[in-house]
Amino acid sequence: MPDKLHKIKILPLNKEIWIDEITDVREALLKEGIKLKSICGGYSQCGMCKVKIIEGKEFISEIKFLEKGLLGNVFHITKERLSCQLYIKGDITIEIPNN
Ligand code: FES
Repeated sequence: MPDKLHKIKILPLNKEIWIDEITDVREALLKEGIKLKSICGGYSQCGMCKVKIIEGKEFISEIKFLEKGLLGNVFHITKERLSCQLYIKGDITIEIPNN
């Protein structure tokens, strides 16, 4: 098991999970039984697995080309990221949609 683990606080569930730096957030949520909407299975194609970054934006991975194509260049307004493309290097708080 990788030695560096970071905490994700998940709203509105008020649940905390731990994640390493090589697992994407969608996968980490899935392992805890939290399933976000998706039809592409985590390949940055459907744009449905959005989460909102509430705290810790300094610890999130940079947005890459495919994700930017789906979400646009508006993170500074929406605070939304695709969880399947999101990796973290520190503790964060996210909000997931009510499905
Ligand atoms: S699961 Fe489809 S874009 Fe993330």
